[in-house]
Amino acid sequence: MKLTSEMFQIIILLLLSIYNSNGDTVRNTDISKQFGSSIRPCHVRIQHVDVDTHSDVVIDTYKPHFSWQLTDEYDNEGHLIKGIQQIGYHILVHSITTGQLMWDSGYVQSSLSTHIHYAGSLFTSDTRYSLTMRYFTVGHESQWYTARFRTALFSFNDWKGQWIGNNDINMNQLRTVIKRQSSSMIRSATAYISGIGYYQLYIEGQLIDPSRRLDVGWTTYQQRTLYVSYDLTSVLNNLDMQLFGIGIMLGQGWYNRQQWAIGLGPRIELAKEYGPPRALLQLNILYEDNTNQSIVTDSSWLGREGEHRFDSVYMGTTMDLRAVRLCWSCANFTDPYPTWFNASVLTSPVNFTAGGQFSLQIMDPIRIGPNALHIATSGNRGLPAGVNGASLTDGGVLKPISQDAINGQVFDLGQNIAGWCKVSSLSAAKSTIIQLRYAELRYSRGENNIDFRGIYYENLQSIAVMDTVILNGTGNETFEPLFTYHGFRYVLVNGYDNVNKDDIECYLAHSETRLIGNFTSSNVVLNQIQHNILWSQLSNSMSLPTDCPQRNERRGWLGDAALSIDEVLYNFDYVNFYLNFLTMIADNQSPDGAVSDTVPFAVGTSPADPNWGTAYATITWYLYEHTGDVTILEKYYLGIQAWIDCLTNKYKQTGLAHMFYNYGDWAAFQQPQNASLVSSYAYLHDVYTFINISQILNHTDNVQKYTQFYQQLSEEFHRVFYNTTIDAYSDGSQTANTLALSLPNVVPVTLRDIVLKSLIDEILRTGYFTGGIVSVAAVYPLLSKEGHHDLALQLALSTSCPSYGYMFRNSIQNATTTWEQWNLLPDQAGSSLNHHMFNSIGAWFYRYLAGIHLNALKTIDIHPRMSYSIDLLDHIEAEVVTIKGIVRVEWKRLAVESLTLSVTIPNNLDAIISFDPLIKNGRCLELICNSEILSIRQQADEHFILLRTMKGIISLMENSVTGTVSLHVMSGTYTFQTYWQ
Ligand SMILES: *[C@@H]1O[C@H](CO)[C@@H](O)[C@H](O)[C@H]1NC(C)=O
Ligand SMILES: *[C@@H]1O[C@H](CO)[C@@H](O)[C@H](O)[C@H]1NC(C)=O
Ligand SMILES: *[C@@H]1O[C@H](CO)[C@@H](O)[C@H](O)[C@H]1NC(C)=O
Repeated sequence: MKLTSEMFQIIILLLLSIYNSNGDTVRNTDISKQFGSSIRPCHVRIQHVDVDTHSDVVIDTYKPHFSWQLTDEYDNEGHLIKGIQQIGYHILVHSITTGQLMWDSGYVQSSLSTHIHYAGSLFTSDTRYSLTMRYFTVGHESQWYTARFRTALFSFNDWKGQWIGNNDINMNQLRTVIKRQSSSMIRSATAYISGIGYYQLYIEGQLIDPSRRLDVGWTTYQQRTLYVSYDLTSVLNNLDMQLFGIGIMLGQGWYNRQQWAIGLGPRIELAKEYGPPRALLQLNILYEDNTNQSIVTDSSWLGREGEHRFDSVYMGTTMDLRAVRLCWSCANFTDPYPTWFNASVLTSPVNFTAGGQFSLQIMDPIRIGPNALHIATSGNRGLPAGVNGASLTDGGVLKPISQDAINGQVFDLGQNIAGWCKVSSLSAAKSTIIQLRYAELRYSRGENNIDFRGIYYENLQSIAVMDTVILNGTGNETFEPLFTYHGFRYVLVNGYDNVNKDDIECYLAHSETRLIGNFTSSNVVLNQIQHNILWSQLSNSMSLPTDCPQRNERRGWLGDAALSIDEVLYNFDYVNFYLNFLTMIADNQSPDGAVSDTVPFAVGTSPADPNWGTAYATITWYLYEHTGDVTILEKYYLGIQAWIDCLTNKYKQTGLAHMFYNYGDWAAFQQPQNASLVSSYAYLHDVYTFINISQILNHTDNVQKYTQFYQQLSEEFHRVFYNTTIDAYSDGSQTANTLALSLPNVVPVTLRDIVLKSLIDEILRTGYFTGGIVSVAAVYPLLSKEGHHDLALQLALSTSCPSYGYMFRNSIQNATTTWEQWNLLPDQAGSSLNHHMFNSIGAWFYRYLAGIHLNALKTIDIHPRMSYSIDLLDHIEAEVVTIKGIVRVEWKRLAVESLTLSVTIPNNLDAIISFDPLIKNGRCLELICNSEILSIRQQADEHFILLRTMKGIISLMENSVTGTVSLHVMSGTYTFQTYWQ
């Protein structure tokens, strides 16, 4: 891919000199001057945080970087001006706290509008700063734009408080009363808090940031515990009280050994390190009269076991509403019962001796409701026609679509989700016990026939999932579970039949993010796959990428994360989420370079199966690919190298022929015989990725060293796995051939067609793809690139077993999330209906069907692949909101030989747009842009060249072998028509 774009650049330079395509037509400075005053930086980012969706940006680095987008500019007729490019910028950073100018970049002549590194005075802890900036384009300058940010506590020495909790009782409510030290207004009040497993912060009975749940994020606590920060300035100023109360609720979360002990293959020794929940808080108040006050957690705080009697991430909660104390975090609170004790000082969860860290949670918290998902796309909202499930853009709160009674009242949400339900209008006698149970499926396996009335608990495996409430009997009571979540579509209410659909409201919970991708097609099967991808992805974004949300697992499996990362970054702005995950992988890396199958390391092995450990290199690579942020590559470079060297040490003992593995091509319909081929694939893939990273970072020594090594490995791969008796790899399985063909330079050029034919023949013979999670991620791009795009589409559109479509077109359930297995056979009764490891096909939707390749936001490629048959697919609409702006692609096939393609390229970016032949071995006859003919061919041997200059269009070239026609364009919106013969 890299090579191609470099080749393009060279060719384009040549073309530029030949055709002298005039650059000055792309800009009309006279017109833009009139509009110059209205342009301003937009979607400004501090680090990877968009200030438009984050009013309070907190950083933990001395060298943040800043990014922005350029406003669109229009000409007199209201047309978008093409080719807007930045020529310079000017950045100022001030301390709001002291007024001091920290950095004045001066005018910097540069086209860079992303990841501009701060180079001013040293930041201090707990300080508020402002960023003021503007940019320049030819002939005019933007308005100044100001955003605010603040720093966290850089050093653990800045923390004055103690961890508190209790070893004897389940002390999950903690409170204290504060006396203001000055009567003047508060200039700033900043809270820093960590509570593990989970916490909630209250001030005077008010829950701070109510949509935030299951905070702080789950980590390997002894290696790294996260804290967060709240700006409480306005909360405290609005209170206007001399005395005010602070409360902290605590939940067990992942700090409880139950979550470790119930898992698959428990690593119970880790669980033993953990104890009861604990909290650490520091509230720094600066008054207008310069008085400083610091409130911290210590043994003067009081605590009790609140109404929350039991909580478990897996098992649910028990809430005793008889024990609720209203306003327990208020200064005036007095409890009629003496249930409050002094909290104990507990040890820090972090093992500093072993290099552990206490650090700011840079990723967004888990949230519910509309604040959890910001919609950044301009395209399709709601459900495309014919798609089952609930719309993601409807605010994250679901109401049941149906109710019926079976040994309790059962409600169907019509959508599989991760979250929980709130039940209101509960009116029954004191001490009535009501239980909520959750399931993904209504299904009972009777002898030979299926009874749909049952609630299916088998796939929860060894856990019993229920939320229990004990009523106080005061009437009209409400119950909402806390510090737990479930994966479900159905909720069963037991012990209270008087419950109505309208009394149930269910919340989708996931790490906060922005929806940045839209992919909609003319085919309902693809649209349902996309729908299921989005929902299963969010269901498994719970401060780390989990495998599934319902059973006794929910672990941070690296393999699953590696397979879906590219798809994720097209659909969601989860950059900080995955940076947090990478940090956890790095934290858990052992001195020999080994990374583990899961982080936090709960199940699996270390070193990980190579297809799991590949997450380290793969996630790093795609974060760069989608953002262009080189610091990400730099940060994990040595760690990735150490992991590869760890694999190399293992490899030296076995060779590729016996490369170690744990899982092979997991969840395959037909396991390939040789799982060492599958793990060797990951190993070579990582070495190749490392070469690419080394190239970008200019580590020429490593480029050379690992390129040589890759050469050796690729020869060995072919030698040990190629099976000359069948002219295919290993057992000739689809997995084996797909993986061999997907690795660069493994299959010798002379054999490529033979191996490809073997794969195609096998797919056609069986009628489906037989591989698992590893090879299915590779097969779609492979077929599309190798001239078998029609077959790739046929596979993607299939609804027979095994296929993506079968997951929602079968007799068991029309799935609304992606399954863990291709099928739900009795021996897979425990399998999940909400996994993201098969979501890799979503990246193929964007890269090959819409054709959007972001290339680290350098020159991007727009290269939609076309099937020869238009019955398969005739329309795609796609959009990706990048750091530089919105990339939009829409294409329509009205006839076999013609295509309409509309493309929008954001300002300060250019693109190569490629048109593949619509007819086998076809040639382009005519290319029209915005109703004007760009190129036309009267005779077959005629060169296909640019016939006119047009704003924004730099050059055109045709690949004489493939017939692909490519245009180099500047920013702007273009509508093309092409005709082929
Ligand atoms: C206690 O304080 C809260 C507000 O902080 C107020 O709503 C409540 O009425 C007060 N209760 C009493 C008994 O004064
Ligand atoms: C629970 O019920 C008792 C009466 O039995 C009442 O005094 C108390 O205020 C109720 N608690 C709440 C939180 O409503
Ligand atoms: C912290 O780590 C050190 C070094 O690895 C170890 O010896 C010690 O036992 C650990 N402390 C705790 C409390 O686990």
